[in-house]
Amino acid sequence: MLVGLFALLLLAVSSPAAEALDNGLALKPTMGWLHWERFMCNIDCKHDPDNCISERLYMQMADVMVKEGWKEAGYEYVCLDDCWLSYYRDTKGRLQADPRRFPGGIKQLADYVHSKGLKLGIYADVGSETCAGYPGSFGHYETDAQTFADWGVDLLKFDGCNLDWTLLGEGYVNMSRALNKTGKSIVYSCEWPLYEWPYVKPNYTAIREACNHWRNSADVYDSWSSVKSIVDWAAANQDIIVPAAGPGAWNDPDMLVIGNFGLSHAQQESQMALWAIMAAPLFMSNDLRDICPRSKKLLQNKRIIDINQDPLAKQGYLALKVDSFQVWERPLFKNRVAIAVLNVQEIGGARGFFVGAAPGWKICKPSCNVTQILPHYKELGVQTLQSNLVVKVNPSGTTLLTVTPISGDPAGVYRLHWQDSAGTRHKDTLVL
Ligand code: GLA
Repeated sequence: MLVGLFALLLLAVSSPAAEALDNGLALKPTMGWLHWERFMCNIDCKHDPDNCISERLYMQMADVMVKEGWKEAGYEYVCLDDCWLSYYRDTKGRLQADPRRFPGGIKQLADYVHSKGLKLGIYADVGSETCAGYPGSFGHYETDAQTFADWGVDLLKFDGCNLDWTLLGEGYVNMSRALNKTGKSIVYSCEWPLYEWPYVKPNYTAIREACNHWRNSADVYDSWSSVKSIVDWAAANQDIIVPAAGPGAWNDPDMLVIGNFGLSHAQQESQMALWAIMAAPLFMSNDLRDICPRSKKLLQNKRIIDINQDPLAKQGYLALKVDSFQVWERPLFKNRVAIAVLNVQEIGGARGFFVGAAPGWKICKPSCNVTQILPHYKELGVQTLQSNLVVKVNPSGTTLLTVTPISGDPAGVYRLHWQDSAGTRHKDTLVL
């Protein structure tokens, strides 16, 4: 009996699920902009000065982020990806930026970004070379962490190319320690599980203790098939990945490609809604200098961002598949729930979905308030378990709802009273 009690106590003390990387960062999913999907490894500044990987690109992006409401919407990190580096370390063995494309160096770029009230993210690799063949950090973790800290970098995306997979864990953990040792606040964005999955089931307890967020699945491309395959991967592996998420520790399904070329507007809405449900870091990869107003409005939609950043900090999951609909749900603070209904039938027009079929609908007892957030904001009013509420969902689009339970308390009861146009007060359970 005592032994049992001791074992229980030990379990409680050492319970790994409770521990995320304790650097006080990314308590909510990180938001920002990351160059990769849109700008890739374009280093041809001679012929394409506006789109090549150069300090100008990030400075312009930072300017727009402040001017066009992105910063105010919560997008804070301006992030470099691969191909910012020189092929050679400096005489002291430190990484350096390509001198032609970054004449001012990274420290000056960080100062500029900070002067705008934003933060700077950088990219490096756990192995001997980055995926694009620039110098990797293997054998230099402490030096590189210190270099980034000295420059004032606020986030590190650490890729996993060019390292034997059996060394990945050690490499990622050592870099985590090296970053911590600098004493600077640097968000640590990993790709550790992505590179382990082909060989072994990753240890998410260890990953969440070392990283603030981590990529699990393939690189996002500017297409619906790519976005959909990422969503399908998350659904297929949700029993493993959902419990790993929480403040300071997030599953990263990769960048938002909204505002580019490959997604219809309905598909852009699906990516935004599902990334909110999945409590995903929101890194846009697009050209903020030239973005369609509708995509901009979607990316800056406060109601969707609020779901993504919800203080309960629980990742959502696929709750039901029915009639070519996927119903995703995310529990929210104060017993609310977000419901995203994705229509996976890619033919025809909008189809109706009976909301009462969503498993989370049971919180609607005795009644609830329903708000539709996508495709248009609409108050759907007070509902009960018996309501026959049907929402329309576009092909490969998503209808996003929030459901707020109305308890039997006086405030709740009050909301069930309504006044008709003649001024007569009614006591009702259903106000539509
Ligand atoms: C890998 C990563 C991408 C990007 C490229 C850069 O493929 O998964 O996100 O960083 O490398 O080369």
